[in-house]
Amino acid sequence: MKGIVLAGGLGTRLFPLTKVTNKHLLPVYDEPMIYYPIRTLVNAGIDEILIVTGGNHAGDFLKLIGNGKDFGLRHINYTYQEGEGGIAAALSLAEFFADNDKIVVVLGDNIIEKNIRRAVAAFRSQKEGARIMLKEVKDPQRFGVPVFNDKGKVVRVEEKPDNPASHYAVIGIYMYDHRVFDFIRTLGPSDRGELEITDVNNFYIREGKMECDILDGWWTDAGTFESLRCASNMVAETGANKL
Ligand code: G1P
Repeated sequence: MKGIVLAGGLGTRLFPLTKVTNKHLLPVYDEPMIYYPIRTLVNAGIDEILIVTGGNHAGDFLKLIGNGKDFGLRHINYTYQEGEGGIAAALSLAEFFADNDKIVVVLGDNIIEKNIRRAVAAFRSQKEGARIMLKEVKDPQRFGVPVFNDKGKVVRVEEKPDNPASHYAVIGIYMYDHRVFDFIRTLGPSDRGELEITDVNNFYIREGKMECDILDGWWTDAGTFESLRCASNMVAETGANKL
């Protein structure tokens, strides 16, 4: 199983903080944002990791993370996304790295308190398909939101719905088999001009090959001023997924 951290994008919601650096290099309390998603993977036993970045500051990732030794890794991989295109477009760059293996994808601005070991272990023994993680939130309209049927099964994910069908968010940690890259190739841009990861998840759901876990401990993204502040406060108050 291989791990991918998506750390591209322009971070426009954090402008001007992101005028001269990449969002994922900004501080979350006492560490650069990207340390947290890398540790999420390492803590789950994944030691082959690819960082997908882009923009004008991509070289700074190499300076900061180097060969991954601070995370107990012997090696780390990088690739570069030209332009913008959304999460699914960034993920498509990982096809060569994935090499038909299963993958765990973490968005570079997603921070968790605990770990995803149990879900990753379950995905290791899952024959095929995908796995998403859910967390109850106060503001589901900011996220991908699962729609449940009366048996509690997820029948669809809606991206940033005005009237959310549940109080859950699909967090930015996704597990996929090798078919994810075929699904991405069939996608067209959404209303916000992006290839949406939610559309990829809906492919697996329609096929009946999506499993879900509820994340243990707190979770936040850190891509807006409010969520960045919240992330720093939560790390300062309770700590996050240290090695
Ligand atoms: C993205 C996804 C959304 C998911 C969120 C988690 O949103 O599109 O489905 O819930 O990440 O952080 P974005 O950060 O692109 O607005």
